[in-house]
Amino acid sequence: MEDAMQNIVSLAKRRGFVFPSSEIYGGLANTWDYGPLGVELKNNIKQEWWRRFVHRRADIMGIDAALLMNPKVWEASGHLKNFQDPLVECRMCHRRFRPDEIGGISEERPGSWTVPPCPNCGLNEWTDAVQFNLMLKTFLGSTEDAANIVYFRPETAQAMFVDFKNVMDTMHPRVPFGLAQVGKAFRNEITPGNFIFRTREFEQMEIEYFVREKDWEEHFEHWLEEMKLWLKDLGVSEKKLHYVDIPDGERAHYSKRTVDIEYEYPFGQEELYGLAYRGDFDLQNHMHESKVDLTYTNPEDPKDKFVPHVIEPTWGVDRSVLVAMLEAYHEEQAPTARSKSSGQAEEGESATRVVMKFPKWLAPVKVAVLPLSKKDSLNRVAKSLHQKLSERFVCEYDETQSIGKRYRRQDEIGTPFAVTVDFETLEKDDVTIRDRDTMKQERVKIKDVEKTIEKKLYA
Ligand code: GAP
Repeated sequence: MEDAMQNIVSLAKRRGFVFPSSEIYGGLANTWDYGPLGVELKNNIKQEWWRRFVHRRADIMGIDAALLMNPKVWEASGHLKNFQDPLVECRMCHRRFRPDEIGGISEERPGSWTVPPCPNCGLNEWTDAVQFNLMLKTFLGSTEDAANIVYFRPETAQAMFVDFKNVMDTMHPRVPFGLAQVGKAFRNEITPGNFIFRTREFEQMEIEYFVREKDWEEHFEHWLEEMKLWLKDLGVSEKKLHYVDIPDGERAHYSKRTVDIEYEYPFGQEELYGLAYRGDFDLQNHMHESKVDLTYTNPEDPKDKFVPHVIEPTWGVDRSVLVAMLEAYHEEQAPTARSKSSGQAEEGESATRVVMKFPKWLAPVKVAVLPLSKKDSLNRVAKSLHQKLSERFVCEYDETQSIGKRYRRQDEIGTPFAVTVDFETLEKDDVTIRDRDTMKQERVKIKDVEKTIEKKLYA
């Protein structure tokens, strides 16, 4: 199973999706850069999310807040006090771990753990568990003293509570309504790892949905359904998903009900997304700390005043990229692949075809334009077609290597359609369109290529 992870990490590097960060300087542990195809994939996820939950809904608006906020935000939200994980240190090799992540079992006595031997050196000599705060600090200004400490936000959520009054005063929304935000969050994780699964810098897509207290269960169920539909459209198979109701005592400090959406990764079943009922915890605390009134007044009935309760669906962007890649990865033996195709042999094809079967909307490149040979007459037609298609779709032009190798490369990056300009094109004004999944090719007149692809992409 670990091989499945290795396949993704290696394809991500080989094909320009995700690189180890600052690699020419030896890297920086557990930090990753999205390359040209990775950023397209990630943007497709963020844009589709925004389109679906902000643009297509009249009840949700977006914001884009600063990463650094007044430190009082984190006092009020409880993060400075409560946002912590247990940490144990091996007395022999001094490696530090979260005990639950290495198979440790929490004992009855708070803070006490039974921990298996150290995964690094194999010895079983641990310090007592201490609570480690995950907030990442920095200093603003020229002096590094306590008065200048600020924190990188550990979740995008808080800005949506802190900006609540500004949104109410300017946009006058009616409850129920939501605020949405996409952006970076930072956590000083004790044990980051598993590629982009757990990093110290990552991106979230979050909604704070403000409701009347009596209606919270109905909205909670609605958001659970929305998250299921999103996962289906991302191409995630239902059988790998688990919806886990987190019991009392194990939920985040602010939550009255949480469902963790877990996925069977190659390294085990772990959280993918979360859905929480935060009650009025955040608005009440910010109201108390800031002394600013954050009650909502019903514009149709001024006597109807209350502090809204909150349902929070939250999605990790990087984990979305990871599961989309894991689900899309397929290896096919060439004979099987060939029997599905038109029967045409593809020169240069290797015995195993690696193909990323992304849903079409998600594919980083939608169309590749490939002249069969480097002959000027073919290139001229192919370049002009590429130019035209690029106005509508993310498009690649490639004239290097044999056509078979070029098809294989497009399969590996998940391009749904490859348009080939060949010698017949010059006589008949048509090209072939090759389908990534079936490898079948059909001839289409050049004037009809754009609309044929459009139909296939968005049918
Ligand atoms: N505002 C609620 C909140 O932040 P969370 O479960 O701590 O809840 C939300 O985080 C999502 O952010 C997770 O479901 C996961 O997808 C993503 N996430 C959390 N920590 C992460 C990390 N260290 N690396 C990558 N993604 C992470």
